[in-house]
Amino acid sequence: MSNLDQFIRQLPHTAPQDLDTLFAQSQLTLADFAPFNFSQPNQYTRNCIVRNEHFELLLLNWAPNSKAPIHDHNGEECWFFLLDGSLEEEIFHLKNNRPIALKKHVLNRHSHSHLPNPNWLHRVVNNSNSTAVSLHYYSSPIEQCRVYDEKNARFKWHKSQYYSVAGKVLKHEPVTAKLF
Ligand SMILES: [Fe+2]
Repeated sequence: MSNLDQFIRQLPHTAPQDLDTLFAQSQLTLADFAPFNFSQPNQYTRNCIVRNEHFELLLLNWAPNSKAPIHDHNGEECWFFLLDGSLEEEIFHLKNNRPIALKKHVLNRHSHSHLPNPNWLHRVVNNSNSTAVSLHYYSSPIEQCRVYDEKNARFKWHKSQYYSVAGKVLKHEPVTAKLF
């Protein structure tokens, strides 16, 4: 059984606060995720590795200068781990329905981040000239989230979509069905 298979098998038995330890112990490398690591120029791809009613595990591939605008997680918690490259994350809270910056940090390979407050938001940017790859765990799966339109100072609902599922590229169709 591969390191990734063992990691996935442990997920249902791991409390969220122990995810960092599980990830570190699993010694996962970028090579373990090759079947899910799809890149597209000028954007990031969301690739579903595993999904059930309790959680989803995604691999995100960030092209140089790609970014995820300020968004929430619809009340769900989010953990992510850097497998390659670096990403800048800025975290916000809401005041009068406007995102207020709390902190900004750079995540490098093998570092991780967690949004502990389900009402917090973040913006994630690959400011580098290299691709970044990150592993994301959401509890529960996120069907939709709110994205902040900075130009018009308002939120819009955005339906979550995958670029690929279980290593297979989709034809621009969102996947909402239970996968296993
Ligand atoms: Fe996010």
